[in-house]
Amino acid sequence: MSVQPAAARGRLIVLEGGEGAGKTTHARFVEEWLQARGRPVVRTREPGGSPLAEAIREVILRQWDEGMDAGTEALLMFAARAAHLRALLRPALEQGSDVVCDRFVDASYAYQGAGRGLGEERIAALERFTLQGLRADLVLVLDLDPALGLARAKRRGTENRFESETLEFMARVRAAYLARARAEPARYAVIDAGQPVEQVRQALRQALEAHL
Ligand code: TYD
Repeated sequence: MSVQPAAARGRLIVLEGGEGAGKTTHARFVEEWLQARGRPVVRTREPGGSPLAEAIREVILRQWDEGMDAGTEALLMFAARAAHLRALLRPALEQGSDVVCDRFVDASYAYQGAGRGLGEERIAALERFTLQGLRADLVLVLDLDPALGLARAKRRGTENRFESETLEFMARVRAAYLARARAEPARYAVIDAGQPVEQVRQALRQALEAHL
């Protein structure tokens, strides 16, 4: 009797960056790069990525008259993440698809941990509870001067709660991403997102070839 080998687990590739860094455009490029190599690919995003997680996303991004404290925000991010993991992300990886995710847990370290000031330890505790050891294989950090990024994001029209944040907030977000990338160069690549799109793509190609 022959036993089918279990399909190899797919790889999780994450795009991160501050507001206006172009993650969504570049996520499509990464998806195409993987497809061109014959890989089955699922492209998704956080917060969101499943119907329940997308409903939580709407709650997170809305402006609330009563405000939203940092703890509520972090817990909602991880609630959305837990739903997304169960409904889409883990099954896709287990079936052998690569997953390209527009933001993942690094965004919680950068925005809630550093931006909102909750600190790394609280986010690490939520990460352990929610991800149970699952980690991205490669995190592509699209790095951009926050002044440029916020200006780009504002041109897109209606602002969500994050796009109306201050430059100081975005500077903390950026510093957190860069510190995380420096601490683990094997799993992170920092891409200068201020360059023309074709050069950003070239840098993404190099990072994908070097890391995957
Ligand atoms: P996203 O859809 O990536 O927005 P954009 O494309 O405008 O950058 O993410 C929505 C917002 O959610 C974004 O401003 C960053 C924020 N966010 C967090 O604060 N923490 C998180 O863990 C995640 C996933 C996103």
